[in-house]
Amino acid sequence: MIERALTILQQELEISDDQINKQRLLQTLKFLLECGDGVHNVKEENHLFPMLVERGMSQKGLIHDMIMEHESEREQLLRWQNNLMESPLDDHTFAILRKKISDYIRYRQDHIQREESMLYTQASERLDLEDTEKLQHSMEQVDTKTLGESSTTIFSRRLKAIEKRITPIPFHRNLTLEETLANFHSDRCRVLVFDQQDLLVGSSDPEKNTLVGSSLQEVIDSRVYSTLKPHIDEFKKNPSPPVAFSHSLDQATQWIQCIPIRNPRGTYQGSLVMISDLSSFNPINTH
Ligand SMILES: [Fe+2]
Repeated sequence: MIERALTILQQELEISDDQINKQRLLQTLKFLLECGDGVHNVKEENHLFPMLVERGMSQKGLIHDMIMEHESEREQLLRWQNNLMESPLDDHTFAILRKKISDYIRYRQDHIQREESMLYTQASERLDLEDTEKLQHSMEQVDTKTLGESSTTIFSRRLKAIEKRITPIPFHRNLTLEETLANFHSDRCRVLVFDQQDLLVGSSDPEKNTLVGSSLQEVIDSRVYSTLKPHIDEFKKNPSPPVAFSHSLDQATQWIQCIPIRNPRGTYQGSLVMISDLSSFNPINTH
């Protein structure tokens, strides 16, 4: 998955400045931070390396170099992610960023290559079957702790969504989708944005963001889905106006607004679904 994410970065860097998909670049850096660093590097640092040291491998040399490289990668990815979110980026800053990301790709590929040719070879020489099983078990725990039991499925779905180049929806010239969604942030309201194919592009709810690339049907409660889907299908056929309806779900009352997003030529780009919790709303009785 890490190599596939590096390929996406490379593809984006080959695109000219005005065509570059900043949103896609940002999603890929985020993916590398959360999956590459948060899962893969953590598995090595917290589980593989200590076990190799226990089995006599020196903490200096290869292990030390790898840890240093992980730290530098973590720091760079975080910095670039922040740079990209600071919009707008001037041309000069963006050119420097492109060059740094391009260097990073080569450096990360080299790291992977050394892991395969040196680290894993040494590991297979030093670890016996019992060690390997113990390691596998502790590594599975990292997956579970990161995003729950299905973290591999979730990461793989997210990567596929980025690979498919899910179209970023322009809300505002200078704001990324994430920034726009952050403006909606509230405890009682969450916003979900779907593209032309009804795939989730982003959400103001970080939990739902793990489902980016999933279909409307997978993301929205089935009872809400059956009411919502015909409206969205209508948006695709006609320049129909936004819709809003209330919905009782278990003990809660929800107010759902669905707004079609169109480009200046009127072509349907996707839908913004806003779900507000009205449970504590107490209308004044006027009778
Ligand atoms: Fe590594």
